[in-house]
Order: sequence, then C-alpha cells, then structure tokens
Amino acid sequence: MQESKISYLDTVDELNSYLNKNLNKDTSIIFVDSNVKSKYEFDENYNIHEVLVNEETKNITTVEKIWEIMHSNSATRSTNVICIGGGVLSDVVGFATSTYKRGANLILVPTSLLAMVDASHGGKNGVNNNYGKNQIGTFYLPSEVLVCVEFLKSLNKEDINTGLIEAIKAGFIGNKKILDLVYGDDTIYFDKGLIQLAIDVKTKITKEDLKESDKRMYLNFGHTIGHLIESDSNYQISHGQAVGIGILIALEISEKEYNLDQSYKKNYMTFLNNSSLKSHYKFQKSRSELMTILSNDKKVNNSKINFVLLEEIEKPVLKEVDIEQAMELILDE
Ligand SMILES: NC(=O)c1ccc[n+]([C@@H]2O[C@H](COP(=O)([O-])OP(=O)(O)OC[C@H]3O[C@@H](n4cnc5c(N)ncnc54)[C@H](O)[C@@H]3O)[C@@H](O)[C@H]2O)c1
Repeated sequence: MQESKISYLDTVDELNSYLNKNLNKDTSIIFVDSNVKSKYEFDENYNIHEVLVNEETKNITTVEKIWEIMHSNSATRSTNVICIGGGVLSDVVGFATSTYKRGANLILVPTSLLAMVDASHGGKNGVNNNYGKNQIGTFYLPSEVLVCVEFLKSLNKEDINTGLIEAIKAGFIGNKKILDLVYGDDTIYFDKGLIQLAIDVKTKITKEDLKESDKRMYLNFGHTIGHLIESDSNYQISHGQAVGIGILIALEISEKEYNLDQSYKKNYMTFLNNSSLKSHYKFQKSRSELMTILSNDKKVNNSKINFVLLEEIEKPVLKEVDIEQAMELILDE
C-alpha cells in the first residue's frame, strides 16, 4: 500500500531549509494561500504562485487556472507541486495535480489545524460545483506532508476550534489519549505530539481502506449530522460548530443504542462550553426538507444511511438505518 511520508517541523525557517535541501527549485512549483503568503517568508527563488481561494472559488475555474500555471511552466509528471495552505487550497491543488498529465508529484504543507490533522492525509481532494460540496474529486496521495506548527500562530480562534473538533473526533474513534490532552490544556494544539496522534488515527484507517468501502466511514463520526446542520442553517453555522454538535448528537444516540458511558458526553460538553462552541441546534427546515438533504448526502445508498456511532470509546460502528429512522434519531435528541 502506498503511503505519504510525514515530517514534523517547528518553524517556517526549518520548512524553508527542508524545501531547499530536498526539492529542486527548477522542478518545483509552489502554490500558496494568499492569507499565508502575507504572513510568512518563503524562498523567493522558488517559482511561487499565490492563490486566493475559499469555498466559493473552490471550483473547476480555479483548477483550470492552476493547470494553466503548470502548463505554462512546462510541468511534467515529475514536477514537484508544493501546496502551502489550508484544506480548501489542498483540495483544489490536490485535484489539479492528480489530473494534470494524469498526476504530478504532490507535496502538501498544511497551514490550518484542520489541514494538519485531517485534510492533508488519506488522499481525498475535490472541488465544489452545483451538485454540491466536494462532489468532483479523486483519491490521490501526496508523496509527502510537511507539518509545520509555526503556521498555527496566525490562525483565528474559529479555525483553531474547527481543527480541534477533528482532533477530538480522532480521539473518540481511535485514541482516547487525544481527548485527555485536548480537555486538559487549551493550548495543546501547538503540540506536534498531539497533532501526530490525530494523524496516526486517520492514516491507520485510510491505509486499510483508502476508497471508503467500510472503515474509512468511521472518519465521518459526527459529520452526517454536522453537514445537515450546516445545510439547514444555510451555512450560517460554521463547519467546526456543526460537526461539534453532530458529535454530541452521535454520542447521545450511542448512549441509547449501545449504552455508551455518559461521562464521554459530559466531558465533551464541558469542552464545548469552555471553548464557546455551541452545544445545541434547533433545526429550521421541515422534516421532509431535512430528509431530502440527507438523501443527497454522499454517504447514502438506496435510501439507507450509515451512521457512525460508538459501541465503546475507540470502537466505532456503522449503523445502517433508513432515512426515516435517521430523522427520528436526529430529531429525537
Ligand atoms: N480532503 C480531505 O480529506 C478533507 C478533510 C477535511 C476537510 N476538507 C476540506 O477542507 C476545507 C476546510 O479546510 P480549512 O478549515 O483548512 O479551511 P481553509 O483552507 O479555508 O482555511 C481557513 C482560513 O484560514 C486561512 N488560513 C490558512 N492557514 C492559515 C494560517 N496559517 N494563518 C492564517 N490564516 C490561515 C485560509 O486562508 C482561510 O481563510 C473544506 O473545503 C473541506 O471540504 C478536506
């Protein structure tokens, strides 16, 4: 099984030295998130292109601009395409790189906490279009991921929380030590050790099931309900907030279905409250509208949905329920 090499660095200076030593300037192209480029210094001798990207421009038009830059720089399959940015940029550059001449060498340098612990690993990429979010994409592993924690210094609180929620998700499904660390110290996200634990949970799963036929679905813990909340609120509730509540509802359903110890929910609620994250959401749309949204979820097959629940801590299970039953479970909470 193919794997990405993961390196952990403390400072952007270290990152620049690593690039200098390992990636030839003549055969490399760097795409960097504009918000990151304005805050950190990179070696200007590299062929650097700034990209201003967000969920609205995470689309095929931006991919075409990236392909155009690769083409006009005579990129080949052996060109190193280095992406320095959050999950939006890595999804777009990952997709562009995987399809350019059927795939160039992708190196990801995640700069948001969510991209460090989640989006840079496991090879998924994608863009949004009028069918929905991330509906077009490929599975394409980066050859390397360079995790440099100095980038976290300039991240805002909301983006830190979004990343922490993904780390906590990894804790619930794969390593409870992560929960103890995050609940015990609210600056722990700077710790390479914590980031590595969360990455290990994801890569262990994706190594076994890259294309999401079974185990990879565990990574959706809290996400099916989270996506429903995001959509119901017309994206007024952020992804981190929505998944945060989704995890809480999944814990409540797990208590009912599998007798999961209530202390997990209690401790998690304390974390949400201490981090000023919402712990409750009142759906606005009608039941039938919510059912239509659920039916369009990528995880739905033949009107059955795979809910990820916890039989026990670190023991996720897939519970297949039909959409009607799923609505009962969600609205019941
Ligand atoms: N491919 C996957 O497996 C996977 C997994 C999870 C999420 N995602 C995708 O990731 C995206 C969300 O990623 P995200 O939360 O990183 O969002 P993002 O990339 O939009 O980054 C959040 C914001 O922070 C800025 N930013 C990034 N790094 C910064 C830094 N160091 N300092 C200051 N500002 C910085 C960005 O410009 C942006 O404004 C979604 O589109 C989602 O679909 C992909």
